[in-house]
Amino acid sequence: MVKPAVLFVCLGNICRSPLAEAAFRQQASAAGLDVLVDSAGTADYHVGEPPDPRAIRTALRFGMDMADYRGRQVSADDFVRFTHIFVADRSNLLNLHRVAPQDHAAQIGLLLDLIPGREGMDLTDPWYGDEAGFLETWSDVSAAARHLVALLER
Ligand code: 4NP
Repeated sequence: MVKPAVLFVCLGNICRSPLAEAAFRQQASAAGLDVLVDSAGTADYHVGEPPDPRAIRTALRFGMDMADYRGRQVSADDFVRFTHIFVADRSNLLNLHRVAPQDHAAQIGLLLDLIPGREGMDLTDPWYGDEAGFLETWSDVSAAARHLVALLER
């Protein structure tokens, strides 16, 4: 079997997708899963920047240090390097399809499609709100990560 490679995508790559990356790294590592993990944004607003300080603090509360993560923008290459791409919301799913090369093997879907009962839904962007929103994001991305680990273990 090909080694799975998972990319999490949001708009800025400073809030939702780094948190999804951290939650999945944590759980994949606990499960002993050999997988490549990364995150990216569809926009270039925060390229080279660390995640939002509120996101860093939230992940730290759950034992994950994201201080070294740096924002980057999705590239055509990602559709070849990654076997699975999970997107935070429908707007960025559209953005992603716009930059996808004609044929690629990567499976693309919404992150919340991983959670039974939440298929088709958007992951709320905590960027516009307060710190409590980041806790909710952590809870959502952790639930998605649990399902993804189970899926990849099969
Ligand atoms: P993210 O949140 O897509 O979850 O990283 C955002 C971060 C920055 C912006 C929008 C959303 N922004 O407009 O700069």
